[in-house]
Amino acid sequence: MKVIKVKDYQELSEVASKIFIDLIKEKPDCNLGLATGSSPLGLYEKLIESYKKGEISFKNVKTYNLDEYCELPRNHEQSYFSFMHRNLFDHVDVSPENINIPNSEVEDLEKECERYNNVLNANKIDLQLLGIGANGHIGFNEPGTSFTSQTSIIELAEKTREDNKRFFNSIDEVPKYAITMGIKNILDAKAIVLIANGKNKADAINKLINGEVTEDFPASALKNHPNVTVIIDEEAASLL
Ligand code: F6R
Repeated sequence: MKVIKVKDYQELSEVASKIFIDLIKEKPDCNLGLATGSSPLGLYEKLIESYKKGEISFKNVKTYNLDEYCELPRNHEQSYFSFMHRNLFDHVDVSPENINIPNSEVEDLEKECERYNNVLNANKIDLQLLGIGANGHIGFNEPGTSFTSQTSIIELAEKTREDNKRFFNSIDEVPKYAITMGIKNILDAKAIVLIANGKNKADAINKLINGEVTEDFPASALKNHPNVTVIIDEEAASLL
């Protein structure tokens, strides 16, 4: 695992976006694994800037999102479908047919997991972006998830619902279930970039870098992958 320490969120977003921009230039038809949440917002802004300057195009890029809440329609402003359109897709030239996000609007969610898993198995992800939960989750793979897990419906940990309630009016509105890529799907990516900023992530980053590999701490699975870059700001690195 390569660890890059930067000063602040601004620098984190610059360093992380450069990795994505370089890949898109080198391989314009690359497969990108994408994440939602607060961590990637700065990176997505930089990708939009780069697109607007004419440096990169998403015309042939295919995207695969990590996860999606259940219980929210796609047009709900907190669905990850809406999040991705609002923060990236609506501002670049990505083709709608190249966007892949688990769809929790369908009636048969198990079937949807199988469909999404087949899509992932048929399209190797060149570069996967990850944030990390304060409890060590990656995607929505909560502590205790098997490292061999594939796309499935999971129950969100109380800690995760608590952390994500900032996006909703109250905790009662935060969905209880989500569809997520499994840890195996994530480890299948050719390269992985994990970004973390802020004090709230310091404990998780310390466990990731100095702790043992255990299913109780899902992000530790990344230590079994040959090409992982962890980019952290000073606050996230403060317990190292
Ligand atoms: C998002 C995802 C989650 C987040 C994590 C950190 O698609 O799968 O694992 O990356 O919860 O969220 P933020 O960035 O909001 O701290």
